[in-house]
Amino acid sequence: GNAFADTLVLNADAALDVKSGKLIRPATVVVEDNTIVSVSRTNRKAHPQDATVIDLAGHTLLPGLFDMHVHLTGDAQVHGYKRLQRTAPRSAITGVRNAKRTLAAGFTSVRNLGAPGYADLALRDAIYDGDVPGPRIFASGPALGITGGHCDNNLFTHEHKVVATGVADGPWAVRQKVRENIKYGVDVIKFCATGGVLSKGTKVGAQQYSFEEMQALVAEVHLRGLTVAAHAHGTDGIKSAVRAGVDSVEHVSFLDDEAIALAKKHGTYFSMDIYNTEYILSEGEKAGILPESLDKERKVGGMQRASFSKAVKAGVNMVFGSDGGVYPHGQNGKQFSRMVKFGMNELQALQAATINSATLLKMQDTLGSLEPGKLADIIAVPGNPLEDIQVMESVTLVIKDGKVEVDTRQ
Ligand code: ARG
Repeated sequence: GNAFADTLVLNADAALDVKSGKLIRPATVVVEDNTIVSVSRTNRKAHPQDATVIDLAGHTLLPGLFDMHVHLTGDAQVHGYKRLQRTAPRSAITGVRNAKRTLAAGFTSVRNLGAPGYADLALRDAIYDGDVPGPRIFASGPALGITGGHCDNNLFTHEHKVVATGVADGPWAVRQKVRENIKYGVDVIKFCATGGVLSKGTKVGAQQYSFEEMQALVAEVHLRGLTVAAHAHGTDGIKSAVRAGVDSVEHVSFLDDEAIALAKKHGTYFSMDIYNTEYILSEGEKAGILPESLDKERKVGGMQRASFSKAVKAGVNMVFGSDGGVYPHGQNGKQFSRMVKFGMNELQALQAATINSATLLKMQDTLGSLEPGKLADIIAVPGNPLEDIQVMESVTLVIKDGKVEVDTRQ
């Protein structure tokens, strides 16, 4: 070890190796500055005397969690027409609170898929600069979409001439829009490949963007070395997006065998927000969700869960994506128990939220598991999540980049 480094020693009941599924127990994880230097069976003599030692009896250590689909600048209590009162600066400030809640829930990395006015980039940079606490954000800026599609804003009449920032029609306009988002600093591109639940006047089952447009979009993104996420509920849109080569499909509500086979062949990741439906149907009306959207949700929720079970069984690459911001930020961990209920074992659910997500982000060499040399993003939960997945809703300690960000133990 480096004699001048800040050393942190975590002694816990166990640490999970998410790759093998094995528990190391009891476990000692040693961190120097922002890097994990060892993960081993407890050896209390191995660390220097000036180290900070944290005793985590009764706890299991895990890598920091990833949520591959959030909207930190959006609020669950503010939907539909209520959202029109939210400017981009106001949303950025809301994002500060939401980032803190998300981090406290154990999510040290998130992909923010869609934010008006590039408010997500401002939040990302403020967190990186240390102005406010929050997860590492991989941000998309405004999502791309067709005129009148799920990623446009359809709440006004033609007299208002409102068009969302990410709207682009035709292969070259789409390429130009990708270039514009990259110019302003996005990490990832998001586009809408079908209609959606929460948008006005769109059909969840109907494809948006022609295959030709999707091919151009994906080619442009990959040319520039970024990854691309496609919002898609309907089967045709899912298949077109997978064939066009997207890195992940979001929602994935209506699957058939061919769509599953295509995803397996292309190595596409599915990011399925299966907790979301519970909040939308119970609290959505109060929050301003349109009646037509509640109708759509009643058709989508059950189908999406059945599709999730099929995809898991078939062995499709799965990540954890929850659409936080539709439901309240900080409740992300609730989705783990639903993932287990609808077909994953506990380890698969944890892998979706760690190593699989890190791999989708092409960060698997630096994040996603507790291994020497990786960045010290570490959480502790009170119990063994392989036996009781619900402990994932009670994260007590959060370390990001070697720094203790949250510690709620008495
Ligand atoms: N943002 C998504 C949409 O509007 C939310 C879908 C939520 N419903 C669900 N069952 N996952 O389409």
